[in-house]
Amino acid sequence: MGNSYKNCKIQDNTAELIYENGSLFVTIFENNIVHVAQKPGIESVAIEEGFIPKAATPDVTCKDTSDAKGTAAEAGVSDAAVKAVISARDITVYVKDNEKLDIYYKGKLVLSDYEKARKKSEKNPYEDLAIAELEGHTVGKDEEKTDAVTIIKKLGKDDAIYGLGDKPGCLNKRGYSYVNWNTDDPAPHVDSFKSLYKSIPFFIVLGDEYCYGIFADNTYKTTFDFGYENTDYYFVEHEKGELDYYFMPGNDMAEVVGLYTSLTGTTPLYQRWIYGSHQSRWGYYTQDEVLDIADKFRELDIPCDVIHMDIDYMNGYRVFTFDDKKFPDVKSLSEKLADRGVKLISIIDPGVKKDEDYFMYKEGMEMDAFAHDTDGSVYENAVWPGTSVFPDFTKQSVRSWWGDKTKILLEHGISGIWNDMNEPASFNGPLPDDVQFEYGAHEKVHNIYGHFMAKATYEGLAKNDGGKRPFVLTRAAYAGSQKYCGGWTGDNHSIWAHIALSLEQVCNLSVSGLAMCGSDIGGFGSDTTPELLVRFYEAAVFVPFFRNHSAMGTRRQEPWQFDETTIDAVRKTVKLRYRFIPYIYDLAHECEKTGAPIVRPLVYEYPADMHVRNISDEYMLGSFVLVAPVIAPGKEAREVYLPDGDWYDYYTGEKYSGGRYILADAPLDKVPVFIKAGAIIPVADGEIRSTEDITEDKISILTYPGKGSFVHYQDDNETFAYRDGAYNAVEYTMDGDKLEKRVLHKGL
Ligand code: GLC
Repeated sequence: MGNSYKNCKIQDNTAELIYENGSLFVTIFENNIVHVAQKPGIESVAIEEGFIPKAATPDVTCKDTSDAKGTAAEAGVSDAAVKAVISARDITVYVKDNEKLDIYYKGKLVLSDYEKARKKSEKNPYEDLAIAELEGHTVGKDEEKTDAVTIIKKLGKDDAIYGLGDKPGCLNKRGYSYVNWNTDDPAPHVDSFKSLYKSIPFFIVLGDEYCYGIFADNTYKTTFDFGYENTDYYFVEHEKGELDYYFMPGNDMAEVVGLYTSLTGTTPLYQRWIYGSHQSRWGYYTQDEVLDIADKFRELDIPCDVIHMDIDYMNGYRVFTFDDKKFPDVKSLSEKLADRGVKLISIIDPGVKKDEDYFMYKEGMEMDAFAHDTDGSVYENAVWPGTSVFPDFTKQSVRSWWGDKTKILLEHGISGIWNDMNEPASFNGPLPDDVQFEYGAHEKVHNIYGHFMAKATYEGLAKNDGGKRPFVLTRAAYAGSQKYCGGWTGDNHSIWAHIALSLEQVCNLSVSGLAMCGSDIGGFGSDTTPELLVRFYEAAVFVPFFRNHSAMGTRRQEPWQFDETTIDAVRKTVKLRYRFIPYIYDLAHECEKTGAPIVRPLVYEYPADMHVRNISDEYMLGSFVLVAPVIAPGKEAREVYLPDGDWYDYYTGEKYSGGRYILADAPLDKVPVFIKAGAIIPVADGEIRSTEDITEDKISILTYPGKGSFVHYQDDNETFAYRDGAYNAVEYTMDGDKLEKRVLHKGL
């Protein structure tokens, strides 16, 4: 059935394309982002009544479409298939029948709707049997979805695809299909998993002659098929809701990530200790044990900044309570830890225990804080504390109530909050699609539940923690969550494949805006081995969120559970990380300003180099540092691809020319690190136990001959005062081996 184009009305920078069966709105932002939205139910020619489509999901974008400035104009029509041409800034949109668009950027065709019908492969009549067999790893069956909304675009022959958050599989997502539906699956995550904890509907297409991002803002269950069904096209299929996407063209990945984070928010600069080493385990049973852990790090001279308290500290897993026998005085614990330069982070899950004598349950019931069943009763399921109810974080009143409870933790000296189980996970089967939240039914809220929980927590800390920058760690997230939280990749295992997976995930999370990310070092489930633990540490050496965490019942994996060789290798790795913390902090500041991630896949820095499109067993820290960890057992060396240019071995200073593979020496206690010619890297010298020991007089500037520039940044490491100018910024420029220094800002 055709849907013919009728005409077009333009208001400022929005064009309403009027078709026989409704309208399509195209808005061109001043920075060349193009917002395409279909609003069923909106009468034709709505624009004349002042209708301008706004962001689909509240709180995800920082800018509403209506904030964009400028004027679109209709131009002449050149070709019979093209019914109208809309242009503004560097964008030209060719409008065709059936709501098909071709979008040109700087005169070049970049994004084309696929105009033919999808070529679905024939289904074998017994296929459902096989699907049932694999059920645990498959989300839903391929049923006809009558309300589905599909975006379908041509796939270029050489297009590579990145992003989509924490999805497993290769760095380059081309040829794979995924489902956005926040999922907690404890089985070891493998390439064939379609879904994991996070749903970030943003991806980057890197072609030979173009680069662009697509952010499809729809929170319902969504399939992303990147040339899996057919190599001629890719599609995004939302089970329900509206078509609403942003097209973001740029000259390279950096520009595209910049546009995406300008729209959904950048990862903020955290307090500096967050970039230090974190130690955690589900099963630190008493507060004395937590203190002993901190002491052991000091005794063994392994730097450490943070210890996490998992659910063990609570009274019967009731959130915002403490077990008065095992954790009788957390305030004194946090004070003792503070004397040792160590902070405390505690876990908070969303499920509230159903218990008439428990203040969270009572208060929540009184204020109608929990999600409902369709019959109006409060919906119940089970999580750690047994029968539990689920706060409706889409409600402002619930977010403020929850946020204020952070005071309880702050009063006990807790410095950051770890939000877990917020997919939401549930033990008595999944929440039904029709569980009711203020924002809509569970099927619409599921993928943003974790986002709104993190927002509640962030805002609570921002209000109650004396002006300190809040730190929230989350398992579930949506687009834009990076404004409120960092994320870790959930329950990985102590297996070699998960070192590789952690790097793929960190690289894709980083280009998906969630730059504060990392995986459990050593692996969460299963038993580690000493060698695996060391290589896990080395792989994460410059990953923004750096935490050793493991599950109760698995082999313990603090470094001292093993021999001297292991302890020495871990110490060396953690010290290497601390040496680079001034550089990491500078990059984190840059990330808040521009969205440029701290850790980057090689393809981000070298998009034109076809060799790096699928490399994720190497990554970059900023533009200057390349890390090539060993991710397999028994190795003493590994091959390293060095992109074009000159590189220096960090340890020996030996110079290599790039554009080729080399063999790097990698005994157990060494992670190969190469530095780009022209690099300027602020590093910390001297004895360091925690980030507290890194004072400005201990920071020196490493330089490597060549051409380069870098801005070193300083502030109070803790508060938001830098946003009012309380910081120093010095620009260093290298030419050959001459280093020049220029003060850009002096505010301290
Ligand atoms: C979940 C988390 C894990 C945590 C455990 C107990 O499995 O992903 O990190 O240790 O719950 O709270």
